[in-house]
Amino acid sequence: MGLVKAMGAMSGKKEKRRIILIGPPGSGKGTQAARLAEKLGVPRLSTGDLLREHAQKGTQLGRKAEPYMARGELVPDEIVLEMVGQQLSEESYRDGYVLDGFPRTLSQAEVLARMLRERGQEIDVVLDLEVDARDTMRRQLGRLVCPRCGASYHEFFRPSRELMRCDHCGSALVQRDDDRPASVLERLKVNEEQSGPVFDYYAGQGKLRTISGTGSVDEVSSKIEQALAKEED
Ligand code: AP5
Repeated sequence: MGLVKAMGAMSGKKEKRRIILIGPPGSGKGTQAARLAEKLGVPRLSTGDLLREHAQKGTQLGRKAEPYMARGELVPDEIVLEMVGQQLSEESYRDGYVLDGFPRTLSQAEVLARMLRERGQEIDVVLDLEVDARDTMRRQLGRLVCPRCGASYHEFFRPSRELMRCDHCGSALVQRDDDRPASVLERLKVNEEQSGPVFDYYAGQGKLRTISGTGSVDEVSSKIEQALAKEED
């Protein structure tokens, strides 16, 4: 049993299990969502990972999404919503999840709320990772990923044991197409333009918690745990 889950079980308090992690590109959403999902014992749903998976497999959805992703633009809502709807209807998502990088537009947030309402559910809390633009750029430009198993590293902040080789499966690490400087800048710009209405939407519902995403990966994880523990008080 994970730490947060164990703490919840011991105190008999309601656990926050439908969690959204938002924040600018490179803020550490993927890294922290994976850790949090493991701690809570729930699946993580990353729309970025799912879209890359579709693109790699060459599905119809992936072929439609690929050009937007390469340019650093948002993939149209209808494509993302269809994909998320399919995923969230799976049994494994019934009791909770950590959403990573979704919703990113007001319309995605509204459709998600409607989808959940139909199931008698709602989002418990939205964690916004705040990191300044220079740090997010440094994190993106140095990121290396494993094309085979999806593991993520950073050239300096989270290096693999063997140079440019995945610790888990030994494959050669690569840079993500959208981690090149032009796409990185475009993604930061798109985020600035689109994230405001999503923040306002969740802030208006009293669900938004801003957490500083600066510091080591462990330090940010503890800040997230502290914020969630406060929620359960
Ligand atoms: P997506 O994959 O979601 O990309 P993103 O939001 O741009 O976020 P990133 O994956 O770049 O960063 P992250 O915040 O997850 O940081 P990470 O933990 O990896 O989306 C990609 C594209 O798909 C979008 O541009 C869009 O086209 C499309 N898309 C996805 N969702 C969509 C949606 N809902 N609607 C429409 N389109 C959508 O960390 C980054 C690096 O920093 C890593 O190397 C990591 O090791 C390192 N790092 C992490 N934490 C720290 C730390 N504390 N200190 C130092 N280094 C750290």
